[in-house]
Amino acid sequence: MKRFEDKVVLIVGATSGIGAAAAALFAEEGAQVVVTGRREDKGQAVVDELISKGGKADYYKLDCSILEECYKALDYVNDTYGRLDVLYYNSGVATVKSQDEGYFENSSVELWDYIMTVNLKNAYFMSLKAMPALKKTHGNIVITSSGASVDAPVSLSTVIYGISKAAVNHLVRLIALNVAPDGVRVNAIAPGITATSIIFQSSQEVVDQVTASVPMKKMATPEDQAQAVLFLASDVTAGSITGQVLLVDNGQFL
Ligand SMILES: NC(=O)c1ccc[n+]([C@@H]2O[C@H](COP(=O)([O-])OP(=O)(O)OC[C@H]3O[C@@H](n4cnc5c(N)ncnc54)[C@H](OP(=O)(O)O)[C@@H]3O)[C@@H](O)[C@H]2O)c1
Repeated sequence: MKRFEDKVVLIVGATSGIGAAAAALFAEEGAQVVVTGRREDKGQAVVDELISKGGKADYYKLDCSILEECYKALDYVNDTYGRLDVLYYNSGVATVKSQDEGYFENSSVELWDYIMTVNLKNAYFMSLKAMPALKKTHGNIVITSSGASVDAPVSLSTVIYGISKAAVNHLVRLIALNVAPDGVRVNAIAPGITATSIIFQSSQEVVDQVTASVPMKKMATPEDQAQAVLFLASDVTAGSITGQVLLVDNGQFL
């Protein structure tokens, strides 16, 4: 029996990188996967690939900076599949237009609001809205935090990002505590530097510098992160784990 047979998994932000890798693993493990994100072409390509390998998946276009859309995505899952077993909130943004904009002295209220909305606020309210469905299935939530939540951010241009991800860690603990009596678990992965497009927004020099500073001298792959997500999402491997933030970072934040 596959680990996620008959389970419905909604992934917020699965059009590329870690989310797309998680979609592939969940589908391999038998889940019905709902892939979301703004980029329709990428999302559909992820779904086509999963289906070509015998997986069960569909794409739902979602801009998770808009809370109403997040709620509609949950309604879609409920109306279409009648259940929700795993909400994986993976979307995250570091800066909006450019690296420069992310430095403390350049930061704006608009940037703060955008990053906090995508990384934190809508993860919180989506978790709240998903809870009745998750209580029925004794399901769970996984959120993508970041190593930048526990130490200085990867780059000084990601100040607001680091603050948002630190708050995600506490969100995980506090929601986990609230819903534990209902049999619902809430956890996070906190990736160190991982080979995805979000990292390649930084200059090659910064990427090389950070990679050289990692004790294991390598970046994680999106699949490394996805394996940790499935570990946390499965009751077989993590049935007694809740409120935890799992660093997957090659020792970067030791
Ligand atoms: N790569 C790293 O080194 C690293 C380290 C620590 C933490 N992380 C975290 O890992 C998560 C995934 O990032 P990644 O590294 O895999 O980079 P990525 O390939 O750029 O993926 C980011 C994902 O977030 C989605 N997203 C962003 N804004 C969105 C919005 N408004 N609405 C819906 N989806 C949105 C993107 O989808 P669309 O663009 O299609 O909307 C995409 O699927 C993020 O939370 C990031 O903070 C990454």
